[in-house]
Amino acid sequence: MPDGSSFIFHDLAPGEDSFRDAVLAGLSARPKSLPCKFFYDERGSALFEAICEVPEYYLTRTELAILETKAGAIAEQIGPNCRLVELGSGASRKVRLLLQALQAPLAYVPVDISRGFLREAAAGIAADFPDVEVIAVCTDYTRPFALPKISGPAGKTVGFFPGSTIGNFEPEAVIAFLTHVGKLLGPGAEMLIGADVKKNKAILDAAYNDAQGLNAAFNLNLLHRIRGELDSDIAIGDFAHVAFYNPDEGRVELYIKSLSDQSAVIAGRRFSFSADEMIHTENSYKYAVAEFHALAARAGFRALDTWTDAEGKFAVYYLRRD
Ligand code: AVI
Repeated sequence: MPDGSSFIFHDLAPGEDSFRDAVLAGLSARPKSLPCKFFYDERGSALFEAICEVPEYYLTRTELAILETKAGAIAEQIGPNCRLVELGSGASRKVRLLLQALQAPLAYVPVDISRGFLREAAAGIAADFPDVEVIAVCTDYTRPFALPKISGPAGKTVGFFPGSTIGNFEPEAVIAFLTHVGKLLGPGAEMLIGADVKKNKAILDAAYNDAQGLNAAFNLNLLHRIRGELDSDIAIGDFAHVAFYNPDEGRVELYIKSLSDQSAVIAGRRFSFSADEMIHTENSYKYAVAEFHALAARAGFRALDTWTDAEGKFAVYYLRRD
């Protein structure tokens, strides 16, 4: 039984991918691109937290409302004595709703690559849920790793992947990811996943172009990182944030657009950008419920339950791999 404020920390010493190598490769490619995972340095993570609060970005508050209102039904699906494994746990905010609703949850296993955030979040959960064993695992959850063994009465081990982060994977990568998590969790794997739903273009365009300009700052933060970390003279003010829903692809696409013919030195190399040239930075896929069910089925998962808000803006899926 945990003592109420302590937690176990498994540091699997994840190697961080090089920002420099990714930038040099992405800006040498045609069309140019930068990987969205590099959004999340300290400033980028804080900007994302702020985006979650703007009125146009409905995703976070809608998912929280579903988790709150459907907590009883979710807890019933999961049953007593569960071990809850959160992949990319960040601040471990949403899981609190589950831990409050679950019947005698045995353990919470937050998995995250960001060591500092993980320690802080794990300590917070351990302090607030003294009967739950907290075992933090610092690793890249998209790569193979072993889950800690947790003894105690029989109960399910359930994966938790909220926030529509799954929408930032390409559909084929979703199948690979679900297959990987299925293996990690073992036979009869069950997962609770939050994913954004396809909808009216105007709502989606607004969500990624908020009036306060936080999505823009979040996207352009990649240029701040380039300037600050890669010894660059890139003229941040000569670039603009572009985001729009592409209904043919079923995704919001983010770009950084060059506003003039210009060049910049980055890590000792000169790169040219023509006026209106777009650097692709992110895709955020949106799935109709039936589409998501079909995608999960390709990884061997069946939806036992699907919860949405009254307007069907966002969906939370309970999946099982038989
Ligand atoms: C983290 N992820 C689910 C966000 C999204 O909506 O795709 C990232 C984001 N990109 C722009 N704004 C927020």
